[in-house]
Amino acid sequence: MRFTDVELDLGDLRLRTLVTTDAALLVEATSREPGRSLWGARPVGPYSLRDAQAALAAWDPATAAQFCLGVLRGRRLLGAVGLMPEHPGSTELAYWVRPEERGRGIASRAVIAATLWVHDELAVPRVWLEIEPGNEPSLRLAQRVGYRFEQRMPQHCRAWTHQDAERDSRHDCLIWVHTSDGTHHPLSGAPHQDAAADEEREQ
Ligand SMILES: CC(C)(COP(=O)(O)OP(=O)(O)OC[C@H]1O[C@@H](n2cnc3c(N)ncnc32)[C@H](O)[C@@H]1OP(=O)(O)O)[C@@H](O)C(=O)NCCC(=O)NCCS
Repeated sequence: MRFTDVELDLGDLRLRTLVTTDAALLVEATSREPGRSLWGARPVGPYSLRDAQAALAAWDPATAAQFCLGVLRGRRLLGAVGLMPEHPGSTELAYWVRPEERGRGIASRAVIAATLWVHDELAVPRVWLEIEPGNEPSLRLAQRVGYRFEQRMPQHCRAWTHQDAERDSRHDCLIWVHTSDGTHHPLSGAPHQDAAADEEREQ
């Protein structure tokens, strides 16, 4: 399969591979971003055209080991889901939604679609997320769409306060997993309770 031209139809939304020529779309989508960068540590806030080109180059399916699917309504970029194949049976997902569109179920729909596509089209049984313990929206999303909490990895993630890895601090990360073995499927967005995960989050 060519990852350069993946396209998933979600009705009013469309997921398609982002390529380097989509940089202007990424600049527009981040224009009101107050927080830290979307696909990497830097920049914080809106992307310049150069930032966007560099970010998309890192996700270029033609040259990189990862690629991303933009979430579009019409020609407007609302967010993206990044896919990072780890080994033949396992792929990590990462995602973001532009600030003005958050809280409307867009990431949930995109993550469900991307997860099913990875299972069904790529025949990858394990899809996983790496989430910071304080990222409440992302944790709620993982739970809502049918991922299960797997483990807390102590000091696993870089804080990216320093460009130099040696000088950077690290923090714990929570690993959430979805498998295609039938034990749990992405749902249609219905929330459900997971007492173990809630307990873990509070630690
Ligand atoms: C995480 C993120 C992608 C969620 O996108 P979204 O489109 O707003 O998500 P959804 O609307 O599908 O909502 C998913 C869940 O998060 C909850 N949520 C959304 N915004 C929230 C907020 N500000 N605070 C708490 N919960 C929030 C929703 O209520 C929903 O949970 P529920 O079903 O239990 O009500 C978005 O907040 C984002 O882009 N954040 C910055 C980048 C990031 O952190 N990415 C994840 C890295 S692991």
